[in-house]
This record gives sequence, C-alpha cells and structure tokens, in this order.
Amino acid sequence: MNLKAFKERGEKITCLSVYDASFARIFDICGVDIILVGDSLGNVIQGGENTLGVSMNDMLYHTKAVAKGVQNVILIADMPFQSYTTPEQTLKNAQRLIQAGAHMVKFEGGREHEDSFKILQHNHISVCGHLGLEPQSIRCPSDYKVQGRDKDTAQKIIDDAKMLETWGVDAIVLECIPATLGKKISQILRIPTIGIGAGASCDGQVLVSYDMLGITGHTPKFVKNFLLDNDDIQSAVKAFIQAVKNKSFPTNKHSY
Ligand code: KIV
Repeated sequence: MNLKAFKERGEKITCLSVYDASFARIFDICGVDIILVGDSLGNVIQGGENTLGVSMNDMLYHTKAVAKGVQNVILIADMPFQSYTTPEQTLKNAQRLIQAGAHMVKFEGGREHEDSFKILQHNHISVCGHLGLEPQSIRCPSDYKVQGRDKDTAQKIIDDAKMLETWGVDAIVLECIPATLGKKISQILRIPTIGIGAGASCDGQVLVSYDMLGITGHTPKFVKNFLLDNDDIQSAVKAFIQAVKNKSFPTNKHSY
C-alpha cells in the first residue's frame, strides 16, 4: 500500500469515514483514495457524545460490512478506546481488524505507544497514526479544542510525528492543529499527513462522511457540506474529491 507515492508525485490524498457497505460501494465507485471505518461511528451511528463507548466488536462488525462494499479503495479501520493498551493486545486486535477486511489500522497517540507501533511494524501490519486532537482523550466538551497552539505542545506533536515515521507508520492523521503546524509537519515527514482541521498543506484531507453530507447537522469550522451545492451523494463525494485534488478545499475559512 504505497501512500508515500501520492506524496512523492504531489497528488493530494482523499479520505472519508464510512461505516456500511452501501455507502462504501458508492464512495469506492466515486474514486475516493481511502475509506476510514472511523470510531466516529460512536457519535454518528450510535449517537454517543464521544467515541469511548465503541468496542472492538463494533469495529469488527462495521469493518466487515464496509469491506464487502469496496473493491479498489484502501480500507483503514480505527482501533477503539482501550484496544491497544499493551503491545500484545494491539497486535491481536490489529490482526482481527485485518482479518475483517482492513488493509491498515489507525490508532491515536504518540511515543506512549512506542512498543505497539514497533510490534505492528515487526508483524508487517500497516499503520496510520493520529496526532493533534485525539478524540479518545476527550472527557468533556471543553476538551474539543485546537491542539499545538503553543511552542511546547507544537514541538511535542512534531517530535511524535517524527518518531511514528521512524517506527514504520505509513501515514498520520493530524486533527485540529494550526495550519502552520500542519504545514511544518508535512514538510518534515516523508510519509503523508492526512489533515482534518489541519490546513491546506497536509498531503491529504479526511472528513467524516456524515458531516460532509450535512447529515449530522454538526458543522465545525473545518467541515464543508458538499451536498449543499450538489444534487445527490455521488456528486457531493466527487466534488469533495475534486476540491481536495485541485487544492480548493480546505481554504483558510476551514483552517485554524
Ligand atoms: O473516527 C474518525 O472518523 C476519525 C476521523 C475524524 C479522522 O478518526
């Protein structure tokens, strides 16, 4: 799975969170590069206030469903809260997600998971990191805020990103950080960054599909509802892909 090739040829990567076979089939046909079975399903499918209630069984169920709908796209599955607390548990649960149809797993955090990143690298399991705002660390609504605004926290995110690259991670999602920091990290790394609220200079962009289709009625600054100017879901997804590829999304309006 060569995500680095996108970065090397200067092509932006498109990614959307999807949770079922029917949406997955449409998004795959539209040509999105990556489908993420995100633990955001805790919010948008299960109606929770956060992602902490999502279990491994939930992730396996949705990953299996999404895998049935896709042919061409790269499929990443999130490792849910408490499913990667030791390297052994991380390996076992990552293997279960791969057996369910994922090509790559994603989990949140940096240096504190060094041994987990290394055991997956050793066992040839592709991994996507997730730095910046880490939703599984959110305990109250006021925790939902832009990360890395000051020098020390910005440096910690940069250092974690460099470590993840060293430990064989294939790509890193950067969530809710200043656009200048997203740019700096994307310039330093050879692996691609995939931003959500991390500015236009990231090597790719991800959105929760229910947000970009206006289903959740929840529109943070970094979200654009692509269904507003399009007649159907296919056209909205194609508009998202085109806007990311031609660099017209995100704009400053969607960035911090
Ligand atoms: O769970 C999810 O959908 C995610 C994206 C917000 C990146 O992790």
